[in-house]
Amino acid sequence: MPFGTRTIAKALAAIMKRLTTILLITTFLACNRTAKVEQIETKSKTSSDKTAFLRGKQLFLTHCYSCHHISTKKIGPPFQRIREDYGVSWALNFIRNSERLIYEEKDTRARYIFSIYNQSMMTAFPNLTDQEIIAILDYVDSHEFNPSMHSHRTATIEEMSELVEEYEKDRKARENQLLEKIRNFKN
Ligand code: HEC
Repeated sequence: MPFGTRTIAKALAAIMKRLTTILLITTFLACNRTAKVEQIETKSKTSSDKTAFLRGKQLFLTHCYSCHHISTKKIGPPFQRIREDYGVSWALNFIRNSERLIYEEKDTRARYIFSIYNQSMMTAFPNLTDQEIIAILDYVDSHEFNPSMHSHRTATIEEMSELVEEYEKDRKARENQLLEKIRNFKN
């Protein structure tokens, strides 16, 4: 190989080596940057999740716990997975004002749960925001689920409607009996 060509070849090889090193360094830096961004994103996600979780817990304990346990009956039924079963807008409407759903809108699901729980009316929460109610639901849903406590929700709308009618008939019959007794007592 003539002297000139060897030098050029050597010089080219040196340039290639340098280019490869630069490429490697750039790739390494780029990857490292992505990893850092991801780290920050995951970090902030977890801490905001944690804040929402604690907010949900606090709201649940303040407003709901006097009547509801998370996965067993208390004065009212456990309400885990209410969104999966009845949808989020039903849950928001019911929690804000169940009385309106029961008496004004005559909503079958609302009248059904009201009948099962002997027509004990739940407190209305018109001032809770969507986010606050959702934080409560996320909080209760984060606990282990006991399907046996929710067997009543497997009823179809027709079955719910039938039960409400039966309950209403029974209630009217009981009221009439009572009125009859009072009348007899007065006579
Ligand atoms: C004074 C007692 C009381 C309080 C406080 C209360 N509830 Fe209720 N809740 C009930 C009763 C009783 C029922 C079932 C009968 C009804 O009212 O329709 C019920 C039913 C429910 C249901 C329907 C469950 C189903 O399976 O259909 C949901 C959802 C619910 N409550 C959510 C809440 C949330 C969320 C809070 C707090 C923000 C809350 N409740 C506070 C008494 C209460």
